[in-house]
Amino acid sequence: MSTDKQYWTQRYEDALTGWDIGAVSTPLKAYFDQLTDKSLRILIPGAGNAYEAEYLWKKGFSNVFILDISPIPLALFKKRNPDFKASQLIEKDFFKHKGVYDLIIEQTFFCSFVPHKMNRVKYATKMASLLAPKGKLVGLWFDFPLTEDFEKRPFGGSIKEYKGYLNPLFDILSFETCYNSITGRKNKELFGIFSKKDIKPKQANNPLHGITLKTILEELVAKYGWEYMDEKVRINCFAVNPSINSSLKFLRKTPWAREKVEKLYLRSKK
Ligand SMILES: C[S@@+](CC[C@H](N)C(=O)[O-])C[C@H]1O[C@@H](n2cnc3c(N)ncnc32)[C@H](O)[C@@H]1O
Repeated sequence: MSTDKQYWTQRYEDALTGWDIGAVSTPLKAYFDQLTDKSLRILIPGAGNAYEAEYLWKKGFSNVFILDISPIPLALFKKRNPDFKASQLIEKDFFKHKGVYDLIIEQTFFCSFVPHKMNRVKYATKMASLLAPKGKLVGLWFDFPLTEDFEKRPFGGSIKEYKGYLNPLFDILSFETCYNSITGRKNKELFGIFSKKDIKPKQANNPLHGITLKTILEELVAKYGWEYMDEKVRINCFAVNPSINSSLKFLRKTPWAREKVEKLYLRSKK
């Protein structure tokens, strides 16, 4: 069993599911209520007990897909909704899922990933790759500061930060403080509607898309130090009086060296 699957399954087994509000959330319900096309292909990733899916299903949306890495909430959903098609209940790691959807719903999923920049970029990229052209990513993102604590979920963020990840891949149709949150989440969440941009697949699949060379370099230096960097990429600016600025200057005009540094960065995130 993967570590993530183990972690989340354990949380369900221990009933440590503080995120679970027990019903469709008011902002999502309001959004669903104005949808007219019941044939939309809708994905709810990291759906948990998936009350939103249940609501949609009961309203006649027949193409709702529920995805979760843990089998427990999926089994509970099936028990509550025995007629729901088994083929639309997907037990899978979101990042390994393949499919095409018109609408993807977010709720307390983004905030569940350890908030490394790479994970957040991967999330945005994966969301875009699962959407049909002009498909929409809609939902709620927490609006409280991200701290240095990389253990305690949910992990926060700001509108500016989220836009940084989503803007390269999506047109932002609206993204603001949610006006109809449930009581415990008032002024603590943003409601967003994002439409997939029409960009070339090469860019959408690039795991480094949206990450600057400066960020890459700073993270590598913080993680490994200059000595190690010099061992891995033999360039003068890593060996003699190394600094971020001088290295950036060199890397920007030396594609082969930049490529090595980017590869090192990608390896460091595995
Ligand atoms: C914080 S809970 C949110 C559940 C639900 N969205 C809600 O609002 O009640 C996060 C959910 O994402 C699932 N999850 C975490 N990582 C996942 C991954 N990589 N792929 C699919 N599901 C994942 C967990 O099992 C859990 O059900």
